[in-house]
Amino acid sequence: MYISILGRQPALGIAELERLYGDVTWFSDESAIINTPRLDFERLGGSQKAGRIVAELPRGDWTAASRKLVSAYAQAWREREGKITLGISSYGFNANPREVQKTGIILKGRLKEVGVSLRLIPNSDTALSTATSHHNKLGLSDNKVELLVVRNKNGKIIIAESVGAQNITAYAKRDQERPKRDAFVGMLPPKLAQTILNLANPAAGARVLDPFCGTGVVLQEASLQGFKVYGTDLSDKMVDYTTKNLDWLAATHHLTIDSIVEQGDAMNHRWSDAIGAVACEGYLGQPFSAPPSPAKLAEVRKNCNYIMGEFLRNIASQLASGTPLCVAVPAWKAADGSFTHLPLVSQLESLGYTPVPLSTVRSSELLYYRDDQVVARELLVITKN
Ligand SMILES: C[S@@+](CC[C@H](N)C(=O)[O-])C[C@H]1O[C@@H](n2cnc3c(N)ncnc32)[C@H](O)[C@@H]1O
Repeated sequence: MYISILGRQPALGIAELERLYGDVTWFSDESAIINTPRLDFERLGGSQKAGRIVAELPRGDWTAASRKLVSAYAQAWREREGKITLGISSYGFNANPREVQKTGIILKGRLKEVGVSLRLIPNSDTALSTATSHHNKLGLSDNKVELLVVRNKNGKIIIAESVGAQNITAYAKRDQERPKRDAFVGMLPPKLAQTILNLANPAAGARVLDPFCGTGVVLQEASLQGFKVYGTDLSDKMVDYTTKNLDWLAATHHLTIDSIVEQGDAMNHRWSDAIGAVACEGYLGQPFSAPPSPAKLAEVRKNCNYIMGEFLRNIASQLASGTPLCVAVPAWKAADGSFTHLPLVSQLESLGYTPVPLSTVRSSELLYYRDDQVVARELLVITKN
């Protein structure tokens, strides 16, 4: 059993976990329990950290959690060889960083008495940042440990040993060092591309299609996970960009990538190879720095709905029944925080698709946006009828 500390948009993170692992439940607003013998943390875009659950307390506060940690680890590590590096991250407690730090200091003292040396990572906050956990390689070897201590609103406490934090160095490299980037087509973060791919959940070895491939972020992530990839885009320039970025990925990550990349209008293209899954960020219309006028919004919405609707209609006849898709479409955030959706979002059945039922979230919660952005990405997780 694992616990995930979910990312900035917890609904996306838990939906991704449910799609991949099935037996997933909310523990608190920011964490989820995953009932699986093995978690492949590196492939997750929507989890900040995850840990193997080692203990539970039915109820308690930080003092109870602290006592449990000190007694359990003073015992477990009393014969540990080599120096231990320890970070402690607490979530959902009414405790300050100093109290969290104090737990580590007490444990360090207890271990010193039996000759075991421990380096404690300082807590400037109640939980270590992803960057701190990652840079200290916590969770990646026996002697570099991060304890995730999570309390839910009923007072239940879970203690877990981290298996890693998001690899921000690798994400930054994949995002910023690739040869071709394009601010105009947008910058899909690799983390979100992973989540889109995982929500589609292609079968092992399948060919993943991105019919709006742009600079190829989704296909990069799919290639890293060992899928065959297929990219098409209306723009020849984007076909060139995806090709060059996949070549760069293959060279820098020592991968053999099975790829097809060609020009095509998603509204009428005939894809030449069998498609195992569709994972894409579709046409999002123009970016806005402030909510557009009602007339402008109506125009952009109509245009996006036409392109994305015609694409779904076109590809439906080319997909085998049961083919999974995760398609990001635009939704527009108003000043009051409400969203305007594409009309097709409520017409998926008539287009020949069935929404994938998820028990942890409603499909309307699958929205990715930043507070300063007007255009959100709404993730449609569907299968071909
Ligand atoms: C939001 S961008 C996708 C960016 C992409 N996720 C990436 O990694 O760079 C949308 C892409 O859709 C393409 N596009 C727009 N209309 C299209 C159409 N009818 N058929 C195929 N591609 C289209 C654009 O050229 C653009 O590259």
